[in-house]
Order: sequence, then C-alpha cells, then structure tokens
Amino acid sequence: MSDKTYPPSAEFAANAHADAATYEAMYTASVTDPEAFWGEHGKRIDWIKPYTKVKNTRYDFGDVDIKWYEDGTLNVSANCIDRHAAATPDKTAIIFEPDEPTEPARHISYRELLEQTSRMANVLKGLGVGKGDRVVLYLPMIPEAAYAMLACARIGAVHSIVFAGFSPDALGARINGCNAKVVITADEAPRGGRKTPLKTNTDKALLHGNDGVKCLVVKRTGGQTTWIDGRDFDYNALAAEASTYCTPAEMNAEDPLFILYTSGSTGQPKGVVHSSGGYLVFAAMTHQYTFDYHDNDVFWCTADVGWVTGHSYIVYGPLANGATTLMFEGVPTYPDAGRFWAVCEKHKVNQFYTAPTALRALMGQGNEWVVKYDLSSLKLLGTVGEPINPEAWNWYNDVVGGGRCPIVDTWWQTETGGHLLTPLPGATATKPGSATRPFFGVQPVVLEPTTGEEITDTAAEGVLCLRDSWPGQMRTVWGDHERFMKTYFSDYKGYYFTGDGCRRDADGYYWITGRVDDVINVSGHRMGTAEVESALVAHETVAEAAVVGYPHDVKGQGIYAYVTLMAGVEATEELRKELEKWVRTEIGPIAKPDLIQWAPGLPKTRSGKIMRRILRKIAEDDFGALGDTSTLADPSVVDDLIENRMNRA
Ligand code: WT7
Repeated sequence: MSDKTYPPSAEFAANAHADAATYEAMYTASVTDPEAFWGEHGKRIDWIKPYTKVKNTRYDFGDVDIKWYEDGTLNVSANCIDRHAAATPDKTAIIFEPDEPTEPARHISYRELLEQTSRMANVLKGLGVGKGDRVVLYLPMIPEAAYAMLACARIGAVHSIVFAGFSPDALGARINGCNAKVVITADEAPRGGRKTPLKTNTDKALLHGNDGVKCLVVKRTGGQTTWIDGRDFDYNALAAEASTYCTPAEMNAEDPLFILYTSGSTGQPKGVVHSSGGYLVFAAMTHQYTFDYHDNDVFWCTADVGWVTGHSYIVYGPLANGATTLMFEGVPTYPDAGRFWAVCEKHKVNQFYTAPTALRALMGQGNEWVVKYDLSSLKLLGTVGEPINPEAWNWYNDVVGGGRCPIVDTWWQTETGGHLLTPLPGATATKPGSATRPFFGVQPVVLEPTTGEEITDTAAEGVLCLRDSWPGQMRTVWGDHERFMKTYFSDYKGYYFTGDGCRRDADGYYWITGRVDDVINVSGHRMGTAEVESALVAHETVAEAAVVGYPHDVKGQGIYAYVTLMAGVEATEELRKELEKWVRTEIGPIAKPDLIQWAPGLPKTRSGKIMRRILRKIAEDDFGALGDTSTLADPSVVDDLIENRMNRA
C-alpha cells in the first residue's frame, strides 16, 4: 500500500459534476438532513405519482424495515427508455460489441430500445407474466438481456438473472428458489470463441423444476437445441408478431425490481432483493457522479449483467441517465490480449470500468497490447470487485490512462445497489489501493470486531459497518426476511454489517482489507466457502472438506480445498481431476478449486469445530505462525497438512 496521492487536475475539477468544495457541501447536507437531500435528488427520475415521504428506515434487530419514497409510483423502464426516446430518439442507448470482432457491432437507439423492450414485454405478457411474477434470465451478454430486464420492469415483473457461467444445478435452484414463471435463455452463449450451451443447460435445470415453468429462447448462434412443445417458445418468432409498444405499469417505489443471488458465509446463496424507486435513484446518481458522466460520453462497464455491477452500471444507472452504454459479449483476451483496448479505440470509449483481476491478467501480457491502440478518448478509469494492488493501479494509470485519467476505485456490494466508498474524480485526491471516501448519504463506521464498539479516532482498523440507510440498499432476502436481519443486522446492533474488514487512515480514507467472514473473493466474484464444501461432500468419495482462500497472482484469491476421502478410496490424480470437474458441474467454472490437498484429517477442536485459521495459514504457505494449536483434538494432523501443502509460494 502506498500513500502517494493523486489530486484531480484543475481542468478535470473545473468541468466535473463535483469539485472538492461541492463534494464536501453535498456530503454534509446528505448526512445532516437525509430527508431533504434525497427528497431533492429523488427528482432526477420521473414519478407517475410524486412521493411525499422520503425516508422511513429502521435498523432495530428483529424489526428491520427499509423504505424510501414509499408513497411514490413510477416505472423503471419508462425512466430508462421512454423519456430519452421522446427527447433524443436517435441517440445510441446501447452499443453491442459481439464476441467475434469480425461480427459487426450494433448501435441501438433509444427509439429502437423502446420498440424492442416493448416487444419483449408483450411476449412476456402473452406467456402469462404479470405484476409481481418472477422471470429468470440466463442469457449471453446480448442486447436481448437488457431488453428482457427492462421488459420485466415495464410490466412489473421481478427479474432474477443467473450468470451464464453457472451450472444447470445452480440455475435450477434459482428458478425454484423464486418460483419463476418463465426462464428466458438463448440457444448458445458465444464467449472467447467458445459456446456455452445455454438452452441445453436450461433443459437440465428444468428437469428438477416445477412443472409449468415456460422457457423463452432467444436465437443467438442458431445452434441446434431440443424443443419441448408447449414449454419452449421461440422468442424471435413471437417478437416479430408482437406490438412495438407496451404501456408501462405503474409501480410503487418499494415494489421489487429484481432478485440477485449472492454467496454468503453460510448456507446456499441468498436472493438479494432490490427496490424500484430508491435503487434507480441511487444507481443513476452514482453513475453520474462517480464516473463524472456527461451527455454524449460513451460509457463501458466490462462486467456481465449476471452480476450486480452489470445491473447498476451497464443497464439501470446509465440508461436512467440517458447515456450510451457499451455491452461487450466477449472476454479480455479474445482473440488476443488487446481486445479491451481495441474496443475502446473502435467505439471511442470515454469511461472504462473493469475489475483488478482483468488488469492483472492483461498486465502480464505486456504493454505492446495496449500502446498500439489510440486510447485518447478515455477520460476516466474505474475498478470494482476487490482491492487493487499498487502494481496494477500504476499500470492502469500509466499505460492505459497515459497518466491523464483519474482512477475511481469503487467499493460496494450486491447488497448496496451502488457505490458506497469511492472517489469523485473531480473532487477526491486518490491513493492507489484505497476506495477513499463515502458517497453522498453513506456513513461508514469502523467497529472493534469483538466488542462492537465504534472507533471514533480517525485512524482506525476493524470491521466496516454502515450507520443509517441509503436509497439503493437491499430491502430483504427473497422469501426470508429473518435471514436478512440475521445476516446483516445481528452481529453489530444498530448497524448494517458489510462482512469486510477495513483500515481508516489519518486522512479519513478507507482501505478495504478483505472479508472477515468465510467468503472469498475469486476474480472479483464472491464465493462462499460453505457452498464449495457442500458441493465437494456431495461427491460419493468425499467424507469431509474444508475450503479456504489463498493469495493468487491473477485472481486475487484462489480456492484451496482440503479433502478427506471415504475410507478405502485411493487418492489419485484422476480423482483430483474428477473432483475439480464435479465442482464445475455442481456450481460453475468459477467455483473450481485451484488446489486440492488430500487431508487424512482436518484440524478440529475437541468439540469438533474445524480450525479454519490454521487451514488458511497453511494454504497461505505461512505456517510458521500458526498461533495456539493447544486446543486441537489431534495436533499431529497439522504436521501432515504442512508437509503435504500444495501452495509453496
Ligand atoms: C465484496 C462484494 C460490488 C460489485 C462487485 C462485487 C469486495 C468490492 C471492492 C473494492 C475492495 C471490494 C468486498 C465486498 N469488493 N469492491 N473496490 N475494493 N474490495 O460484488 O460479489 O457483492 O462482492 O467485494 O469484499 O464485500 P459482490
């Protein structure tokens, strides 16, 4: 970590939505009178019936209740489309860049977005989808994914997107978890020159689903799929017949807009529920201020719409602001390591937002892949998903940004809907590796982990919590409000607990130090160790498994699994491969263990609790400092684990 600071240039500050003085004034206003502040900024979106109440939020454990703009009504899709289609119909809403660079890019205007979203909305209505019904999306990164999200919003249905890299089992669990009426998929998802058979995966997922789930299939590659009449519907045929206008439904601010499953420290993934009104205000406002978005800028967030980053900063935030947003179907390294920069040059991208893991991977390929492209359109760079190491930050700053572009390191979570800690590029001097300071309305606190006491000194280290609410906050866990309260509001009473540790330096800057729970961060994606463990023990040869994270050069953290086999099962290389494959099919490729160590036994306390601290140390190749092992039931298992450790850094 370096404490070198990079202040905004005078020129950038002069043209920015917020300079330092504006940030200070707005921040102070936002926390001294949230009601007035958000009452004013809620007007950035169009309301059918304007709200008279702004904030009504309670964090009392046992009675957590979060409402913003509760008596207002609106339609999210009308805000993202219709008002821009009326004002600037020919402006490009979405630039679609396909996986294959030889396939032409497409520019979708706001007028066309209105027609296409309406067609999709009318097709969904035709399948019986109405207000409050759930629709699962399992799609490639194609414009139809945005149409489908917005079409659900248009008719008041709740979407739940499942990342196309997830397995049929994971998809099935999510379809059943929210009792979806329809799943929208495509024949195949092209990515990095390969094709994921989405329809075939969906067929498998639906085998264990409720009868009556309908499957709407978008044609992407034209690849062959099997078809069940009465269950499967051809989107392209239905859309061709559908009307090009659909009246937007009047929704309450607190009606759920979407569910998005995310991993936690225990159990299966939770369905994070976001609202319509507060979420949209927050996504739009953070998009404008954090990225200093101006009219006619081309904004590119490289995430997938399967993650919250894609929801807030490919679709909802940018489109609510009438922006031009780029959707990229492919991967950073296909057909070669210059693809990101080729796309930036081709579409004259102004703001570019990606994950540190992608930067680390590209950095290793050499600067020649970057410098051969004209990146003079870039004005700002952003990162998200995990802490950025100073080497990657410097490379991003020097090689990609040519030293001209401010870098915004945005800390937030699926649960928060949008940025909570982030520099504002015209206001905040940045420090490589720090997400700097809170966004408007956000009140971070650092608590002493064991006592839960708030540390009021500026320089502090502990767990990161948030006092009070912001409009983009999640409202509940789908179908399980108890779990919502328990997960986020029970460890530290009166606060929202983020699960992250942090340090606050003497300047009041926040440095995220990583998760303090059993969640690991693999390539900027959250993975619950418990989920990987339960996938492993579901294999017939596995008696017990314990999973921890370990430092990984490119992924940030890798997945390290200790596996105890059933008696009599031989530990072979084939079995290791088989278990890797098993986890891929149970959850998806992102959950595949990087290292599997055969463990004759796991270090446990006498009461049978696995001592993960020890397993983490061994996985980090830092076993000199194992700490107190005297409470172990059988200390000798540790010696075996050390001797046969897999990560010899
Ligand atoms: C977790 C949330 C929010 C979009 C992507 C991930 C980590 C996120 C940063 C950052 C350090 C970060 C945290 C957080 N994280 N952004 N800028 N610096 N850590 O969303 O899957 O909900 O994961 O990602 O640990 O809790 P997510």
